[in-house]
Amino acid sequence: MSEVQTHRVQPAWKKRALIDDKTYQQWYAESVESPEAFWGEHGKRIDWFRPYTKVKNTTFSGDVSIKWFEDGLTNVSYNCVDRHLEKRGDQVAIIWEGDNPYDDKKITYRELHDHVCRFANVLKKHGVKKGDRVTIYMPMIPEAAYAMLACTRIGAVHSIVFGGFSPDSLAGRIVDAESTFVITADEGLRGGRTIPLKENTDRAIDIAAKNFVMVKNVLVVRRTGGKVGWANGRDLWYHDEVASVPAECAPEQMNAEDPLFILYTSGSTGKPKGVLHTTGGYLVFASMTHQYVFDYHDGDIYWCTADVGWVTGHSYIVYGPLSNGATTLMFEGVPNYPSPSRFWEVIDKHQVNIFYTAPTAIRALMGAGDQHVKKSSRQSLRTLGTVGEPINPEAWNWYFNVVGEGRCPVVDTWWQTETGGIMISPLPGAMDLKPGSATRPFFGVQPQLVDNEGNVLEGAADGNLCIVDSWPGQMRTVYGDHERFIQTYFSTYTGKYFTGDGCRRDEDGYYWITGRVDDVINVSGHRMGTAEVESALVSHPTVSEAAVVGYPHDIKGQGIYCYVSLMAGEVPSEDLRKELVAHVRREIGAIASPDKIQFSPSLPKTRSGKIMRRILRKIAEDDFGTLGDTSTLADPAVVDDLISNRQNKK
Ligand code: WT7
Repeated sequence: MSEVQTHRVQPAWKKRALIDDKTYQQWYAESVESPEAFWGEHGKRIDWFRPYTKVKNTTFSGDVSIKWFEDGLTNVSYNCVDRHLEKRGDQVAIIWEGDNPYDDKKITYRELHDHVCRFANVLKKHGVKKGDRVTIYMPMIPEAAYAMLACTRIGAVHSIVFGGFSPDSLAGRIVDAESTFVITADEGLRGGRTIPLKENTDRAIDIAAKNFVMVKNVLVVRRTGGKVGWANGRDLWYHDEVASVPAECAPEQMNAEDPLFILYTSGSTGKPKGVLHTTGGYLVFASMTHQYVFDYHDGDIYWCTADVGWVTGHSYIVYGPLSNGATTLMFEGVPNYPSPSRFWEVIDKHQVNIFYTAPTAIRALMGAGDQHVKKSSRQSLRTLGTVGEPINPEAWNWYFNVVGEGRCPVVDTWWQTETGGIMISPLPGAMDLKPGSATRPFFGVQPQLVDNEGNVLEGAADGNLCIVDSWPGQMRTVYGDHERFIQTYFSTYTGKYFTGDGCRRDEDGYYWITGRVDDVINVSGHRMGTAEVESALVSHPTVSEAAVVGYPHDIKGQGIYCYVSLMAGEVPSEDLRKELVAHVRREIGAIASPDKIQFSPSLPKTRSGKIMRRILRKIAEDDFGTLGDTSTLADPAVVDDLISNRQNKK
């Protein structure tokens, strides 16, 4: 791909940058040659109640065990709040920008301390203890951050469920985590529309009860004032509760390897997995990547547009920035409300210096036209970031040239829920940029490309992306199922962490992520197992079988393409198609909305009954000239029918 223009590090970036190319080379070499010494030093960037004496104790073989800073004691909320009070108690910690452009507020570190302590005391008052799992199902309001920090303060493990998930999805996560305390709001507000969070919670709790997990309390933040159902004795209003507790709460001394949070994410098989992150290593990694990747300096205004329901919100709205004493902006709304200028207006309004968003938003705003960007100033901007899926060079160039006016480096950050923090990304003062490439590994990250047989590929190559040694932010286990952790990540290529991504390394050692190589699709930066959508479809009474694949989508990156076989006697119709879309949304949530449904009386199967997804993918992509070998199909004629009824004709 030599046609992609390389952008050299500009003198202004280098001048300001914390890390230049020489330092990068030096630190990187040290980080992989002597990880003990390197992380022993950088682990000190957070405060410890008792310093660690052991740094790294990890193995990717056998039972797989990952421990960092294992004898150190610390507390995440202490590091994100208390330790800043002396120097920057009056500095703004959180700028909240509401869905409505006239709705905003600023919370200083001192105020944050107050809120977090009170919140923690409310949790304690209702019996939440160290190690308990607390489910958070919240809109993007400051109380979501208070709730997270309050959990960490008392050592409770939070499990955040994105507000766009259905009651069923919420229930599944409550049950898996055996969580008996839920924090929610009356309603969420996005793009002028309300989301019935409390009502969904009530339904989820009923479903959880049928699965023998009894939620004891629901703490409800009043956001819209909308009417909600109420279970006396179980439900608690946040505003009532905080009024009667003290504004001081000593942070619990947590071991570095004590669980910090669980976050569910989809894989190629089965139910979503509870990715478990622990305390010390996670915070060190989130904090360090936040500082160096975004070239964060004291006083910078930083905005990540993600939702706290995703890992990006955990690491780069809350924990990374707050541990660094940053001013972090939390946005309740959506990119195109009230108009496609919203992002740029917010940047001007709050004088944002660092802006981090997703390719899907960039593509959508690019499609809306440059005029929406150009009516803003954007002079405060210094660094632009992207995350969630591969960014096509066209979108990258638009982001760089139109949004950043060629002045701001674009950091394309590759990482995963499992990795806790950014793994491959430019550092603004150290790497020349190539649009579409996440460039080079962060300190301590050792990528390796392997072919399907596991042979290591050297030099310029295309293969499956593995990481060969541990880094502090790595997930420690799948909650409650360590065997699944080993199976999912360390068994495809024995002794290596397999990411599930395909990747190319070019002649300059730059990494280009090519997308998932497993049955996971990435829709608008949201990860989804095709198996989950299939099981939602077959739970509909008219459906006998379903196969789901991704196909290229201009805005979403990938769209959801469903092949559906109906029960005998059921008749395909437009109404049924709509009903199935609605059904999947009800089962999983709006993010899983099928884009295309093809009714197909039979699916292409091998003689042993295995669905040949390769063929289904090709047909969904409208690229059936090269279907490859179909001779192993039980009934090759099926393919002709699938082709003639395809839903994605170009
Ligand atoms: C998958 C992880 C990490 C926060 C958001 C998503 C894809 C993520 C990039 C990027 C190409 C990317 C990968 C990865 N991905 N960032 N910069 N370039 N692909 O977290 O839901 O755990 O998804 O997102 O396929 O495996 P996630």
